[in-house]
Amino acid sequence: MTAPSPAALAKLTPVLTKRWLSPDAWRLDVYQQLDGYAALRKALSVAPDDLIQLVKDSGLRGRGGAGFPTGLKWGFIPQGDDKPHYLVVNADEGEPGTCKDLPLMMADPHSLIEGVIIASYAIRASRAFIYVRGEAVHAARRLRHAVAEAYEAGLLGEDILGSGFALDLVVHSGAGAYICGEETALLDSLEGFRGQPRLRPPFPATHGLYASPTVVNNVETIASVPYLVLGGAEWFRTMGTEKSPGPKIYSISGRVNQPGQYECGLGITLRELLELAGGMLPGHQLRYWTPGGSSTPLLTDEHLDVPMDFEGMMSAGTMLGTTAVQVFSDQDCPVYATYRWIEFYHHESCGKCTPCREGNYWMKQVLRRILAGEGTHEDLDTLLDACDNLLGRSFCALGDGATSPVTSSIKFFKQDYLDYIEGRKPPILKPPSELVG
Ligand code: NAI
Ligand code: SF4
Repeated sequence: MTAPSPAALAKLTPVLTKRWLSPDAWRLDVYQQLDGYAALRKALSVAPDDLIQLVKDSGLRGRGGAGFPTGLKWGFIPQGDDKPHYLVVNADEGEPGTCKDLPLMMADPHSLIEGVIIASYAIRASRAFIYVRGEAVHAARRLRHAVAEAYEAGLLGEDILGSGFALDLVVHSGAGAYICGEETALLDSLEGFRGQPRLRPPFPATHGLYASPTVVNNVETIASVPYLVLGGAEWFRTMGTEKSPGPKIYSISGRVNQPGQYECGLGITLRELLELAGGMLPGHQLRYWTPGGSSTPLLTDEHLDVPMDFEGMMSAGTMLGTTAVQVFSDQDCPVYATYRWIEFYHHESCGKCTPCREGNYWMKQVLRRILAGEGTHEDLDTLLDACDNLLGRSFCALGDGATSPVTSSIKFFKQDYLDYIEGRKPPILKPPSELVG
């Protein structure tokens, strides 16, 4: 493994991750010694609308995957209405390969809580929720501890820091369903119903939790807010690109020497990120990778120098997504990886709409048949036809996302499919129990 060059190291921008290596930074006393809650004091002395304007000026875009402008979203919350407003933090991080919100909540839970208080003050919400993925019991426990510390210190509850502003914050654990990361399914689940997506529009900004105006933001988005309040919009824009400003936590996994989280300005390339992660494992050659988990199409070594920001990824025919960079080598079969992803989507499909519920089931059967050495040339057309009937015809983004690994693996690695179909590669799975015609 070669050490990263000074040029690569200069790409690191430790902002949200700056306290991660400080021992016990998750405790309130340590967090406060490290500048914690200074941003809240400053924010409470500013008018809520000025805070929304600050977020707009910074260009902060949603870090959950879609990149929607955060200040614009906050600005959609109607003012002067008599309905309660809510802030809901989406901590249901479930996209395969994504691992940025969980470490943030474990290492630095108070930065998220501080962001929640500031954002709630800005949108005039008096109740906020953090919806944590069901499997992340450790993160929910840590957050609950931090919330209790914040109440004890007068940072939550009535008259926060003598400002007259009151906020209650509830940490809610989901039950482990990927679909509850979709914002409207999350809201249904929070209300006590089975988590299934709602029709949008209306968007949560006007009709969210209990049909009231609600901002739903990702963990990393909200945790960025205290730094923005302290540093200002201009400072924020010194990182990243003009249209995708600010720092971003990239999680990299797979065939690299040092998998983990690397915080850099938006727009770093895979080549640079690979260098930070110590390069490919010995004996492995990069073959394909995902920029944002399996819901974004696979890319190849042709895309090593494409900036990983919202615009750069669009130019490569994909979305930035969750910046879950999964790196696969010449030893990783793309057909098998696609099969495993489709197994996941089939398992996690909520079943509400036919294209996704049935389409993922049949794509799984066809892929399994190919990997069992019983596939036909028509199977490739069947897979692409199924994708045509999923993309844009599913009720939510889960169905659309499921097509990404299938279409992109057939585009870049058709020969691998043909090798199974034409008998050049030995079967690696048993045939599906229910064979397709
Ligand atoms: P979207 O683009 O439909 O919406 C993004 C946000 O903007 C939402 O909060 C939505 O309410 C808001 N919005 C959009 N148009 C609006 C309007 N006209 N008025 C008011 N608000 C508006 O994206 P979506 O479907 O919410 O999320 C898809 C993304 O989620 C994908 O990019 C995917 O990468 C990501 N994802 C993330 C996962 C994770 O674990 N973090 C898991 C799965 C997917
Ligand atoms: Fe449910 Fe899939 Fe339809 Fe989304 S696309 S509503 S997950 S069945």
